[in-house]
Amino acid sequence: NSIKVFAPATVANVACGFDIFGLAVDNPGDEVILTRRNDSQICIQEITGDGGKLTKDPNKNTVTVPIIKYLESIGSNAGFDVVLHKKMALGSGLGSSSASAVAGVFAANELLGQPLKRKELLPFAMEGERVACGAAHADNVAPALLGGFVVVRSYSPLDVFQVPVPEDLFVSLIHPDVEVNTKDARHILKNEVSMNKAISQMGNVSGMIAGLMSSDYGLIGRSMVDFIIEPIRSILIPRFFEVKMAAMDAGALGCSISGAGPSIFAFSKGRETAEKVATAMKNEFETVNIQATTYVSTIN
Ligand code: HSE
Repeated sequence: NSIKVFAPATVANVACGFDIFGLAVDNPGDEVILTRRNDSQICIQEITGDGGKLTKDPNKNTVTVPIIKYLESIGSNAGFDVVLHKKMALGSGLGSSSASAVAGVFAANELLGQPLKRKELLPFAMEGERVACGAAHADNVAPALLGGFVVVRSYSPLDVFQVPVPEDLFVSLIHPDVEVNTKDARHILKNEVSMNKAISQMGNVSGMIAGLMSSDYGLIGRSMVDFIIEPIRSILIPRFFEVKMAAMDAGALGCSISGAGPSIFAFSKGRETAEKVATAMKNEFETVNIQATTYVSTIN
């Protein structure tokens, strides 16, 4: 009557696909342990790794809000004890809140004998995202739930699909020790986009999908340009352009902000290059005394 679930970190936006592209990595990730109770209460028993920042109020925590919405929706009065082990920093741009949201609702569905299919859990996990940052975007929760590279084709109605990725495509992720609040990083964006930028962005979005599906690494790299979001958000990340240059010089196919930042990700062909890219990015941050954590991963 107890289950332990791992939910991975995710890179949202993936350069050109603001709010529509996301991918799951194999590390880091959060861990949730859910245990069935005899009553119908939802109790957060323990949270580790959050430095005491997260609330244990089940109506406000991203791990439990999706569970509560899910139970309401299926008409269940089940109760659970919840233990959450955070393995990545909050406000990191690594989809920290999404990982918790997905792990919680996935675990509850498993313990209740899978009344819903995996994909049907998505709207509930998105409610966790709304609690965390005010917007129920799906580009972190969808890949955390489904795995791989995911496209949110439409939000209303919700329509998501997975895109196959080339075997040798690796992700270097770096999390510098600076905090960027997702809410703030969304507020500074403009609501209007010029026709020219929209055209360029659509070209890159199409190029990315075609590149992934045909294992055309050059096309993937050329498509990793964001004309709309990165120019605005990069001002929130100290040394962003230097770090990006360092990644490109070390052989990356492309490099951009992971989610709302401050984490930065790069794509490379082959693990060896991806390791070099991660080291180059870390060294660049260290020149201005910013400590950073790196991860090298496949898209999983
Ligand atoms: N697409 C969202 C954003 C992801 O960039 O605001 C946040 O992690």
